[in-house]
Amino acid sequence: MKRRKFFKLLLSLLGSTAFISFFYPLLRFLAPPGSEANVGKVIVPKAEVPIGSARSIVFNNMPAVVINRKDKGFTAFSKVCTHLGCLVEYQAGKNIMLCPCHAGTFDLDGNVVSGPPPKPLQRLPLRVEGENIVIG
Ligand code: FES
Repeated sequence: MKRRKFFKLLLSLLGSTAFISFFYPLLRFLAPPGSEANVGKVIVPKAEVPIGSARSIVFNNMPAVVINRKDKGFTAFSKVCTHLGCLVEYQAGKNIMLCPCHAGTFDLDGNVVSGPPPKPLQRLPLRVEGENIVIG
């Protein structure tokens, strides 16, 4: 009797795990984009992005980066590569954004410098309000 009860419990536990591991990703996939709290705009203190550096953010559930350049100030781009969607990384020393998947290279205006990406990175609307950078 104890053994039967144990196997029943084990089976229901495995069933629950299988159910959750199947339906949770399905629900996440079906949820409309922007249904989470991070919608509309993102505010980053200027002090968190010193000249010559970048800060990763999430804008409308999309990985993005805010860059502070000495000559042009703040700019923000989607980090999603326009080739196959890998995430580009800011390379401070080289003043480029590099995609690790197929070595797509973008300049700091988001334009394609080399590699397979067919178009520039998506530029995000940005304005400076006092001590904050407002993206969106
Ligand atoms: S996904 Fe970025 S270069 Fe291919």
